[in-house]
Amino acid sequence: MKKIVSVAPMMDCTDRHDRFFLRLISKNVMLYSEMIATKSAIHGDRNKILTFSPEEKPLALQVGGSDKKELSEVARIAEDMGYDEININLGCPSKKVQKNMFGACLMKEPELVAECIDAMVNSCKIPVTAKTRIGFDETENFTYLNKFIHKMKQAGCRTFIIHARKAILKGLSPKQNLNIPKLNYDMVYKVKKENPDLNIIINGGISKIEEIKKHLKECDGVMIGRAIYQNPYFLTNIEKEVFKNTNYPTREGVVEKLLKYLEKEIKLGTKVNHIMRHTVGLYHGQIGSKNWKRYLSDNMMARDSDFQKAKHIMTIVQNNEKANQTTVC
Ligand SMILES: Cc1cc2nc3c(=O)[nH]c(=O)nc-3n(C[C@H](O)[C@H](O)[C@H](O)COP(=O)(O)O)c2cc1C
Repeated sequence: MKKIVSVAPMMDCTDRHDRFFLRLISKNVMLYSEMIATKSAIHGDRNKILTFSPEEKPLALQVGGSDKKELSEVARIAEDMGYDEININLGCPSKKVQKNMFGACLMKEPELVAECIDAMVNSCKIPVTAKTRIGFDETENFTYLNKFIHKMKQAGCRTFIIHARKAILKGLSPKQNLNIPKLNYDMVYKVKKENPDLNIIINGGISKIEEIKKHLKECDGVMIGRAIYQNPYFLTNIEKEVFKNTNYPTREGVVEKLLKYLEKEIKLGTKVNHIMRHTVGLYHGQIGSKNWKRYLSDNMMARDSDFQKAKHIMTIVQNNEKANQTTVC
């Protein structure tokens, strides 16, 4: 499975509609679900929470939990539903997540994490992977991180996504935790050097092709979150420069296909804005960007937005494309 570049799991962002949209732009990146708590996956409306379109694959389910029975059950469910990977969240610092004993606070509990991974590995055949940080609070220490990774390796985990900044569990909001603790890419590179047999995927603050290429010299893969959500068409640069695929779609082509999906989803009861909200950044950095955003906020975000309005999107898209082509000439 190709995992050289993946789109990070992002709560309220990488839902199934966003993933479908991103997949229209890139065939080669690995996609991740938002974090789903084990209890929701087991007891919630599975159709709503876990369903995905086959087009989204390769796709990983990210799960939050620390109960090994629940985690192993979710691993089984993920495999049965056709997910390609199950990933445990060991990096989220939010208070709510800490209260439920999952996310970054589990970095303090290597034994428990190893038991959870062992249970998951033994209940499914798809890869069990972990997404973690380089440290937490006062602990930003290679020896600790390396031991933590070793413990998980012994339990059967071979792929680690490492967000190259520590988590501050007290005193910083989740948003601040994405920017304030300093990035330390060298620590992740060192993990790879010390563990050449493991798949080490680096994450945090990566937004340019040159950065991706540099990290790929040191690590096995790169995971990108905000830079892709804010500018999804950046994925075409990744297709071209990293995957050497020049057969990527125009923005117009993406929207054309997305409208077909929209039409199908509306018949199933999905609201237009639940899909279109993810496309706000489609014209990021382009001439039509403001028009696009204004059109979406005037028409698509309203609760009553319907497919007839959505059809007008094509006019805006075509005008944007023309404006951009004129400038290029
Ligand atoms: C809105 C938002 C929601 C996020 N939700 C999750 C999540 O559900 N699971 C997770 O492991 N990380 C989550 N993250 C963290 C990202 O996966 C990623 O590690 C982080 O944004 C750093 O990567 P970036 O600098 O490329 O954005 C979230 C980040 C953002 C911005």
